[in-house]
Amino acid sequence: MHYYGTSSVNEAGHLEIGGVDTVKIVEEFGTPVYVYDVALIRERARGFKDTFAKRGIPAQVAYASKAFSTIAMVQLANEEGLSLDVVSGGELYTAIAAGFPMERIHFHGNNKSKEELLMAIEHNIGCIVVDNFYELTLLQELCEQKNSKMAILLRVTPGIEAHTHDYILTGQEDSKFGFGLQNGQAEEALLKAMDSPNLELLGLHCHIGSQIFETTGFVLAAKKIIETLHQWKQAHGYETKVLNLGGGFGIRYTNEDQPIQPSEYVEEIITEVEKNMKQFGMNMPEIWIEPGRSLVGDAGTTLYKIGSRKEVPDVRQYLAIDGGMTDNIRPALYDAKYEAVLANKPLMEAEETVSIAGKCCESGDMLIWNLPLPKANDQDILAVFCTGAYGYSMANNYNRIPKPPVVFVENKEAVLVVKRETYEDIVRLDLPLKEKATLKK
Ligand SMILES: Cc1ncc(COP(=O)(O)O)c(C=O)c1O
Repeated sequence: MHYYGTSSVNEAGHLEIGGVDTVKIVEEFGTPVYVYDVALIRERARGFKDTFAKRGIPAQVAYASKAFSTIAMVQLANEEGLSLDVVSGGELYTAIAAGFPMERIHFHGNNKSKEELLMAIEHNIGCIVVDNFYELTLLQELCEQKNSKMAILLRVTPGIEAHTHDYILTGQEDSKFGFGLQNGQAEEALLKAMDSPNLELLGLHCHIGSQIFETTGFVLAAKKIIETLHQWKQAHGYETKVLNLGGGFGIRYTNEDQPIQPSEYVEEIITEVEKNMKQFGMNMPEIWIEPGRSLVGDAGTTLYKIGSRKEVPDVRQYLAIDGGMTDNIRPALYDAKYEAVLANKPLMEAEETVSIAGKCCESGDMLIWNLPLPKANDQDILAVFCTGAYGYSMANNYNRIPKPPVVFVENKEAVLVVKRETYEDIVRLDLPLKEKATLKK
């Protein structure tokens, strides 16, 4: 079994994380519960940041908070000197509530509302990543009304899509995000932005995909964008200050995944950007990246209680846990794979192959198919590894199931950072039939 970060088996024969026995975590906080290995998050953050520092490259490593956004997580990102990528008023509000420095916030999204843009302007955030012409015009108008100036990046689609080991070069940029580089939209947006008195165009942004295990896609995207920047310099005298190459760095979920280190991505990206900028005689820009999954993914473990068992003779053993697609929708959504052990006896030999079912009223609510496990019953705790990214942040209340709490562990200490939802929370926003809402005139 692969143990991540500070995870190991302690003297009691239990899984421990951050020096804390997971059986004790369950006794104190119940199940299901998300547990985060804080030391591992710090290690990953430093892996990205230190490589830029060692090479003397001005950079921002922005945590893509969509992967896991809570006040404590945003505060941890701040402690590690990360910037923050937000994609909604809610993520921005979380950052405000966490006291995150506004100047290090980057606001993404393909349909930011007027209210969200105003919130960003009023809080004077670091920059807005403008996604389309509608937003470009709206933002200019709002900044003018507010008599303020906003730094922006233009999100472009360089015609490169990277996914795991494949990268696809697409002539036609068919994506809901960004301005096409090849179809001339990006250049049109550049001219509009240069013309906008209330917008300061810092540079370009692209995000080529997720769970990427190689540097090829990033290298190709950087090359393509820099070639374009060279043309724009010649045609319009525009020189970029910032090149943001997005996130998408891959992590290990199972032994089919072989990720490279954060430092390796950063080294390759720096080398490629330096080479190309030099070739065209342009000044080196700041390099920004936006890792989400690779900062928090393998630092998260979900602990569940095992409940019912169903045998389909000669076919399958189903073991059900007290959570499922409500706390981790990734297997149902895109067939994501996970590894797991029994947290109270992780070293015990496997005796059977089981399939882990969630408790939701939905046949697709299966967490893991064909998992080798010791004989397990309702006294046992299942620890599913690598649930730190897009688990809690995509959690939902299907079947009116309350969301689990989040516990941070570090240096033998467990701290509750998100409380368990209660049934009262579930009905908190409901109104009874009698009190009919009336429309305001
Ligand atoms: C613009 C942008 N940046 C960063 C990320 C983070 O990606 P990951 O969590 O794969 O690193 C995403 C993910 O969707 C994204 O859309």
